[in-house]
Amino acid sequence: MPLVSLRQVLDEASKGGYGVGAFNVNNMEQIQSIMEAARETKSPVIVQASRGARAYSQDRFLYHFMLAATEIYPEIPTVLHLDHGNSVATCKSAIDMGFTSVMMDGSLLEDGKTPSSFEYNVQVTREVVELAHAKGVTVEGEIGCLGGIEDGHGAGGDGLSHLTDPQQAVEFVKQTGLDALAIAIGTSHGAYKFSSKPTGETLKMARLIEIHKRLPNVHLVMHGSSSVPKDLQDIINQYGGRLRPTWGVPVEEIQLGIKNGVRKINVDTDNRLAITGAIRKVFVEKPEEFDPRSYMKPAREAMKKVVALRMTQFGQAGHAGDYSPIPLAVMAHHYADHAVTV
Ligand code: 13P
Repeated sequence: MPLVSLRQVLDEASKGGYGVGAFNVNNMEQIQSIMEAARETKSPVIVQASRGARAYSQDRFLYHFMLAATEIYPEIPTVLHLDHGNSVATCKSAIDMGFTSVMMDGSLLEDGKTPSSFEYNVQVTREVVELAHAKGVTVEGEIGCLGGIEDGHGAGGDGLSHLTDPQQAVEFVKQTGLDALAIAIGTSHGAYKFSSKPTGETLKMARLIEIHKRLPNVHLVMHGSSSVPKDLQDIINQYGGRLRPTWGVPVEEIQLGIKNGVRKINVDTDNRLAITGAIRKVFVEKPEEFDPRSYMKPAREAMKKVVALRMTQFGQAGHAGDYSPIPLAVMAHHYADHAVTV
């Protein structure tokens, strides 16, 4: 099937009461890992690329690898999503290239670092909603700022200084007409999220539940959702890496989120850890090897295992067959019929 919109996948996930992992990619092997995991677990899937990933892959490589994915895995409903678009122009270029979903992260200014005003955020997100919806493309927005930095994008810090205000979230949704809302509840991008195992309180799960109560029909997005498993850290350190002890977001907290309106769960770091650990292992155990396939194959397999596990834990496994793809043109008509007027 052709690439589908994020909106279709999240609507379906909402009906089924499950979450869908959104996994970041930069190269062919990561796309292959995700698609193999989706096939094995029969899952719909969201593949996402940041601005950094688009630059790394010269954009066109990424897009054509994704077209190959739809050809090779025709039974898997697959979304191609732009992660953390920093401006209207970035989102527009993704839409023009064939992304079926874009994130306009107006919680930060165009530099991707400085927290913006509510008014700025509404204005740029609204602008992207107008141009995306005209083409049937989905829009994710963000209110509140996450911690950490990813591919040069992010407010830094521990993610606690700009938590999402539930009332502002309601206003934001009303004024922008977006499809999915990323909220800041104390998570951050990267491996170093917490210095001890976080509880539901560290993670401000009560705030997430409050936002869901006020916006029961809005698809919520959890960024910075890697669990940073100890076993993946250990493999890296065992084979010469130097990771400091660290904790990520426990899967049980994500599952609680899924019960409370979270439909898209962003995961990048766990896959990076899995790939790096597998490559380090080959380098140490077989120093005579120099064929890239000797380490890229185990790396691909290690990432696939993590992705398949998350697909099962998030509940998307077994649901690939529930979809008949809605063409973007039909989505565009639907948006036109239900246009938000502010
Ligand atoms: P992690 O760094 O926790 O994997 O988060 C990734 C993310 O949120 C991408 O937008």
